[in-house]
Amino acid sequence: MHGPSTTLVAQSFSEVFGSEPAGVWSAPGRVNLIGEHTDYNAGLCLPIALPHRTYAAVRLREDRRLRLWSLQSARHYELDLDDVRAGNPPGWGGYAAGVLWALQEAGHRVRGLDLMVDGQVPQGAGLSSSAALECAVAAAVCDLLGLDLLDDDSTRATLAAICVNAENTIAGAPTGGMDQSASLRCQPGHALLLDSRDGSIAQVPFDLSAHGLALLVMDTRAKHTLVDGQYAQRRQSCEQAARQLGVASLREVPFDDLEPTLDRLSDTTIRARTRQVVTEIERVRATVALLRAGRPAEVGPLFNASHVSMRDDFEISCAELDVAVESAMAHGALGGRMTGGGFGGSAIALVPAERTAEVASAVIHAFADSGFGAPHCFAVTAGGSARRES
Ligand code: GLA
Repeated sequence: MHGPSTTLVAQSFSEVFGSEPAGVWSAPGRVNLIGEHTDYNAGLCLPIALPHRTYAAVRLREDRRLRLWSLQSARHYELDLDDVRAGNPPGWGGYAAGVLWALQEAGHRVRGLDLMVDGQVPQGAGLSSSAALECAVAAAVCDLLGLDLLDDDSTRATLAAICVNAENTIAGAPTGGMDQSASLRCQPGHALLLDSRDGSIAQVPFDLSAHGLALLVMDTRAKHTLVDGQYAQRRQSCEQAARQLGVASLREVPFDDLEPTLDRLSDTTIRARTRQVVTEIERVRATVALLRAGRPAEVGPLFNASHVSMRDDFEISCAELDVAVESAMAHGALGGRMTGGGFGGSAIALVPAERTAEVASAVIHAFADSGFGAPHCFAVTAGGSARRES
């Protein structure tokens, strides 16, 4: 039995391309529990895979043509694999075509393909719809070409790095590796503790319902994009701080020795950015310890501290994210924070399960009172990684 999403995307493929796909693959978006802007600082982060997935119906071709269609976009593409380069194709096609390009860069022999996508991860919401697309295409191509990159966690780590290269080089977003790692390496019922210093992971139990809790995602629908300059600027500030301190990355700055270390930095902005990264890595450690101890309700204050750090030290929050967190807290949430790259997108709140609807409704009202457009609020559980569906 195939799910309705698998059937729909396969049927749409057949209608456009005139024959059936070789199969359907899917990969999830992610929501990061805590550990923001730490991945490109060789730090720790803690995402879960969302139940929302991107479905890709695929058939390889004998030639090097790429024909790329999506149920979410009127824009489709036809181009030659050899014409894929930085910025080409533009738009969503770059994430799909970029994966073929990056597999080739990594030394694999690739061919053209026909692709139909059904992306069910909300777009522009800070929930990694782009990584879900990359990883669904990557899973399909690896299976169809007989590449062994889906076999186990260590080959999936290699595949995640290939997808990051696609996003950095072809789509032009200078992101770290959290999103692709989540999409390829998460397990259901667990959060993924990713150590970006060496790429190692640990699966951390994350079953909130067993504790009478829920995780509410509040998609503010405020514009969010990683291709504009703000994300890159934060990354540059962190690299500048590491250079001034003479360390390979901010991961090397000990939390215990933070204040004297900050005094060695040249200006207040760089000091604040560094404080955010170093304290956030420590908050990931504390969160993991509580989850492992079976005390998830106590994670709330760490979420709040993380949000304040993002808002004040990293300056990547916005009015909509702040209102989402504040109104959730005022109506019974145990903790809340913005999640993902920032400047819009989504916030999360840890809530007693029975208060989920009440908190969601309070956030919707607070948005209306503030004159913001309606947010989209939904509870999520930790899903599984990229896989073949049919
Ligand atoms: C985006 C990037 C990630 C990560 C987060 C912030 O989602 O794609 O690599 O840097 O922002 O934690």
